[in-house]
Amino acid sequence: MFKRLSILPILLFFFLFITGMGVKPQAAAPKAEAVAVKEIQGLAAGMQSMIPPHEYGNVIMKRYTGEGQPIRSVVFPHWWHRTQFVCKVCHLDLGFKMKSGANDIKMGDLFEGKWCGACHNGTVAFAATECDRCHSDGIVVKENRNFYEVTKGFPPDGHGNKINWVKAIDEGKFKPRTSLQGDEEMISMDVDVKMVLKEPIMPDVQYPHRSHTQVLGCDNCHPNIFKPEAGANPATMNKIYQGEYCGVCHGRVAFPFEDCFRCHSNSQPVPKPN
Ligand code: HEC
Ligand code: HEC
Ligand code: HEC
Ligand code: HEC
Ligand code: HEC
Ligand code: HEC
Repeated sequence: MFKRLSILPILLFFFLFITGMGVKPQAAAPKAEAVAVKEIQGLAAGMQSMIPPHEYGNVIMKRYTGEGQPIRSVVFPHWWHRTQFVCKVCHLDLGFKMKSGANDIKMGDLFEGKWCGACHNGTVAFAATECDRCHSDGIVVKENRNFYEVTKGFPPDGHGNKINWVKAIDEGKFKPRTSLQGDEEMISMDVDVKMVLKEPIMPDVQYPHRSHTQVLGCDNCHPNIFKPEAGANPATMNKIYQGEYCGVCHGRVAFPFEDCFRCHSNSQPVPKPN
């Protein structure tokens, strides 16, 4: 958590830097734009290494645990769980809100089969009596898996977990179950939506439904995060950095913001200022 907080000011600074470039498009010659893009890539290269790949997407759960409490906080590893189950299983079927600290979880609930206890019952996964495997903030647990061993051979990427998770599923490197029983069909949708920037500072955003509907249900995004209508959502980078719109997932569990051109990928060239 604190690691992400320390990145925020840098991202915000970066955002100001970028929009700063944006308010004078009239003056920006194509050459200056090329320099700006280089700067962006340079900064991005500096940011990507701030969270080690095996920690990216880990959530420290500390509503009732940690400092001043009798037990260590819980470290929840997304990288492992997403190899086992699609996001939808936890974030729709089991009702986990997609926000750190937003779920009110007590051990009693777990032993009744709720939350983590839907799986950590000794059948689907190790039982809720193996305290340290979950309450592991600040310690190394031998029984838990090694990120680098599990993800060996997964297609690499430059950011976040440094794994291209979309490619990894496409290549069959892992097959996450789509329900607790594992037999549900995902509703897949292969439609890209172009999100046009108000000012042509960057390439437009090409939002791909396909890679999202592989792991998420429509209800994960519609209508709470996005109205299902092209152009109906007033997203800005600032709001995204603050955890709205794409920033509900990106920068937290899905690949981080510094991978600018994976979202700003519309191949239309940036028009020259007139
Ligand atoms: C096995 C269950 C499980 C799966 C599968 C899962 N999550 Fe989560 N997710 C959680 C839990 C638990 C939390 C922490 C909630 C809390 O702190 O109260 C969480 C939190 C989050 C958060 C908030 C993180 C933050 O720092 O605020 C995001 C975003 C998220 N999940 C996205 C995803 C995405 C995207 C996927 C699929 C790639 C996914 N999750 C798969 C259980 C799961
Ligand atoms: C949808 C099912 C599911 C839910 C919900 C779930 N887990 Fe898991 N979890 C698994 C499976 C499957 C494994 C691997 C089985 C095993 O090691 O016994 C696992 C393994 C783990 C591991 C060990 C990972 C490793 O590196 O080996 C931790 C830690 C863990 N879970 C924590 C949690 C916590 C904390 C929660 C709730 C906030 C939770 N899990 C909710 C299915 C789930
Ligand atoms: C499968 C993962 C998991 C295991 C195993 C587990 N816990 Fe927890 N535990 C959690 C989660 C998640 C929370 C909520 C953390 C928070 O929000 O601070 C929690 C909260 C707690 C709390 C504070 C809330 C409450 O219910 O009083 C205590 C105390 C606790 N656990 C003790 C234990 C003990 C003792 C064991 C072993 C017998 C254990 N836990 C095993 C996941 C686990
Ligand atoms: C990860 C989030 C996410 C998921 C999951 C998702 N969508 Fe969308 N959807 C979007 C975004 C973003 C847009 C574009 C909104 C905009 O342009 O402002 C969109 C747009 C749409 C549109 C409008 C398209 C147009 O051209 O007007 C429809 C219809 C739609 N989604 C249906 C679905 C359906 C059906 C599913 C499930 C199969 C789904 N979406 C899953 C994020 C999502
Ligand atoms: C997860 C996807 C995603 C990533 C990564 C991303 N953007 Fe964006 N960006 C968006 C979306 C969505 C919008 C709003 C598009 C619209 O106007 O509908 C946007 C808008 C913008 C705008 C328009 C002005 C504004 O502030 O809203 C700029 C400039 C911008 N992004 C720059 C960047 C830069 C620089 C990076 C890399 C540091 C970046 N973006 C990374 C999705 C992303
Ligand atoms: C509910 C969570 C969620 C939201 C909201 C979300 N994404 Fe994603 N996105 C994911 C996940 C999970 C992946 C898989 C890759 C990963 O985890 O790094 C992904 C992958 C992508 C990819 C890579 C596609 C590929 O084929 O490689 C792009 C591009 C992308 N998202 C853009 C966006 C944009 C733009 C928005 C906002 C308009 C957005 N996403 C909103 C979860 C989300």
